[in-house]
Order: sequence, then structure tokens, then C-alpha cells
Amino acid sequence: MEPDKKTLHKFIGTFLEDMGGTATMAMVCLGDELGLYEAMDGAGAVSASGLADSTGCNARLVREWLDQQASAGYVAYDPEDDTYRLPAEQAMALARRDSPVFLAAGIQTMASMYQDLDRIVDVFRGDGAMPWGDHSPSLFRGTAEFFRPSYQTNLVAEWIPALDGVESRLGDGGKIADVGCGHGVTSVLMAQAYPQAEIYGFDYHQPSIDSARESAGIAGVSGRVTFRAATAKQFTGEFDLVCFFDCLHDMGDPVGIARHARDQLVDGGTVMLVEPFADSDKATNHELPTAKVSYAASTFICTPNSLSQEVGRGMGAQAGEPGMRAVFDEAGYSHFRRVAETTVSIVYEARP
Ligand SMILES: C[S@@+](CC[C@H](N)C(=O)[O-])C[C@H]1O[C@@H](n2cnc3c(N)ncnc32)[C@H](O)[C@@H]1O
Repeated sequence: MEPDKKTLHKFIGTFLEDMGGTATMAMVCLGDELGLYEAMDGAGAVSASGLADSTGCNARLVREWLDQQASAGYVAYDPEDDTYRLPAEQAMALARRDSPVFLAAGIQTMASMYQDLDRIVDVFRGDGAMPWGDHSPSLFRGTAEFFRPSYQTNLVAEWIPALDGVESRLGDGGKIADVGCGHGVTSVLMAQAYPQAEIYGFDYHQPSIDSARESAGIAGVSGRVTFRAATAKQFTGEFDLVCFFDCLHDMGDPVGIARHARDQLVDGGTVMLVEPFADSDKATNHELPTAKVSYAASTFICTPNSLSQEVGRGMGAQAGEPGMRAVFDEAGYSHFRRVAETTVSIVYEARP
């Protein structure tokens, strides 16, 4: 069939927009790394040379960066006096690290996909397996930063209170296992919120465990949170709460791991599962604004990691509630309930 010209032009438009988005994300990485956004935040109208001076960067390159950012709508340009300004809304996403919508540092996850491209080509032609630790370090840092704002906003204020009876138990003490804890963002947040509780963070990636320990030290909670390198089937203890934050779908044997978690729960204990948001209907899911990023991360990161481990279930990041419910059914849990959601996450409660 002859291609339809109108449809072709429309697709080329979509493609160019996507190319622009990809290029803009590289510029965001630069702006974040060089402190350009932070220097612009609250500074009002700045000239390219003024911004270059205040950040110790090359003035000609800073001007080019600013013009790209203006064309992307990330900074505002004033042709009257040839100055640039970071609007307050963009500052929240790009400059303010404690903002609930700070996005700039998480873009390192996108950078890792390009850095790991050659390796993934081989993985596609091979057995599909690539363990977490074989990715470039941008992934580890980027993942922690990508999820951090949501955890800071929701974990203690919304998600734990949504679980039946868990908040009061942790207020009195209790033990928490944070399995697949990565850089330990969630472990540290829970240690800060529940000073009576004992928190254990487990991850099989030693460099992430090292970073987690460092973060706990900086946050002043090292005495209440212990990080250990262990797989999700190796950790042991008697826990009131076992948490999986954005990691169970990454694992090869989520059913075996859910069973193992059940065996580490005290009477009345709970599993909290946080997983990427997905609509249960695949066609509807494809339309979601988060789907393009989620399926890409799943292709590059989550599914190859799962295929690198025993069983290799390869759930992918978009299995949604039906996929997760099936895992906990197969693992023999009698209770599985969706308790909260955001644009990027769904939170579930499971009990034996
Ligand atoms: C997407 S990251 C999530 C990290 C952290 N929970 C967060 O939300 O920022 C997935 C984590 O699971 C860990 N992981 C994957 N498979 C594992 C396994 N079988 N046992 C323990 N950790 C595992 C990885 O090392 C990685 O840190």
C-alpha cells in the first residue's frame, strides 16, 4: 500500500518532537551537573555571561545551552535585554532538590540507557540477561534520584498510614526489612519517621549498599538502620513489615521471593509492595503518559535483570495489578489489596 502523506507528516512530527525531548534530557543532565539551574533559581533575569561567571563555565557554551533551554520552554528569554530567567515552576522541577517534583537528577536513568546501548544489543541477540550491577553507574544514582521525591512526599505521609495497623505498630517499635533497597532512600526516610523501629536494608548490589550506608550516616540514622548485601532470598529475620520498593518485578523469582518474605514475617506482619503504575488493560496502558518511559526502562533494565536470575519470570515493569496479584496468589498469600496510587506508582498490602 502507498503511504498516506498526511499520516507520514504527522509521524515525522512526532519523531522530531521525541528527538527534541531526547536532546533536552541531555541538556537537563548538563544543567543539573553544572549547577546552572540552581544558579538561576531566584536570581531573576540573568545574562549568559553572568550565568557563566557565577557557575565557572564557558560563556559561549552557556549561551548555547540557554538558547536550547529557551526553545524547549524550560527557561524564559527576554529579547529586550537579552536575558534568561528560570520560572518558579521550572525551578521546582529542575533546581530545588527538596521539592516534591524535583526531576532533574533522575534523568541519569535515561542517560544510562544510551551508555549501555552496545551491551543491550548483545543481550537482545543472546539470552536476554543483564544483571543490575552490569549497568553504568548513572543508573544507580539516577534510580535513587528518580524515585526520591515521590518517596519523600508519599511514603510516611500516605502509604504507610494506608496499610492496616502498620503505622501504630512502627510508632511503638517493630522491625522493617527494605528488600532491594538500592541507595537506601526509603530505609533512611523510615528511620527518620519511626525512631523506635529497627530498619534493615538489603540489596544484592554491593556499591548500592555502600551508598546507602553513607546516606544513613549523613542523615544521622546509622544507629537505627543496618544495610547488608544480600539477595531477596537470603535475608532473614522476624519482621513486622517487609517492603519492596520498585524492585520485585526486577527479580527473577518474585513468587519464591514473596514466599521467602512471608516466612520472615511475625504474626500479623505485612508486606508492602510499591510497583510502577500501569493500567490493567494493555491497550489503555499504552496511552498513559508514563508508559513510554516505563516500557523503555523495562526493556533496558528491569526485564534483563529478571532474566539474569533463577526462574527468570521477566514480569517487566508494566505487569500492573493483575501481574502482581498473581505473584502473591501463587506465593500462597490470602490477602492482597491495592491501598494507594500516584501517577508513577501503585502501592499494595499483602498478608499471609
Ligand atoms: C529499580 S531498583 C530500586 C531500588 C530502590 N528500592 C528504590 O526504589 O530506589 C531495583 C533494586 O533491586 C535490586 N535487586 C534486583 N534483584 C535483586 C535480588 N534478587 N535480590 C536483592 N536485590 C535485588 C537491585 O540491585 C536494585 O538496587
